[in-house]
Amino acid sequence: MKYAIVYSSRSGNTALLAEALKEGLPKEGCRYFGTADLAQKDANAWEAVTGSKLVLLGFWTDKGNCDEKSASVLKKLRNQKIFLFGTAGFGGSEEYFQKILTAVKQQADPSNTFVGSYLCQGKMSVSVRRRYETMLAEKPGDKKILGMLENFDRAQNHPNEEDCGQLLARAGALVSD
Ligand SMILES: Cc1cc2nc3c(=O)[nH]c(=O)nc-3n(C[C@H](O)[C@H](O)[C@H](O)COP(=O)(O)O)c2cc1C
Repeated sequence: MKYAIVYSSRSGNTALLAEALKEGLPKEGCRYFGTADLAQKDANAWEAVTGSKLVLLGFWTDKGNCDEKSASVLKKLRNQKIFLFGTAGFGGSEEYFQKILTAVKQQADPSNTFVGSYLCQGKMSVSVRRRYETMLAEKPGDKKILGMLENFDRAQNHPNEEDCGQLLARAGALVSD
């Protein structure tokens, strides 16, 4: 099956997932691998993306939705099968991931079909932890802030090999159809 991997990544987490797909999926079917920016700037790249049977679109979570660059690609796609993958700083709840995915899908044209998805946590900047620490200093023992610190620390080793393996299992089943 002809497929394209298009992704947007600010600090490298979603890029790791994209690389895992590139390495793990059958090479012969790959029509495009690259960033959302490049896919839209280069006419040949865009043709390769839209000429694919399946678009694997990767995003990083920005305010509960996909980032602007991946959203820009998503909004332009028509009559395409789309597999969404991405990373989010907050995790531990499938419900939260589903909320993000629902918001992302709402941005797409209804002619497209979503055929699968995979989200996992992605590490955040240390400045975020410093902010939480300052908050905790102001409210010692606050359970909510402690939970935010725990979440931050949990995110630090993601995406990991297990995440990449799960992503590949889901996407691989579609590509080899
Ligand atoms: C400006 C900004 C907004 C973010 N908003 C969210 C959010 O709403 N929910 C969330 O779970 N993570 C949020 N994050 C965390 C990132 O989605 C997460 O760290 C992601 O793995 C970054 O992916 P990347 O390394 O591919 O850029 C935000 C990060 C930044 C920098």
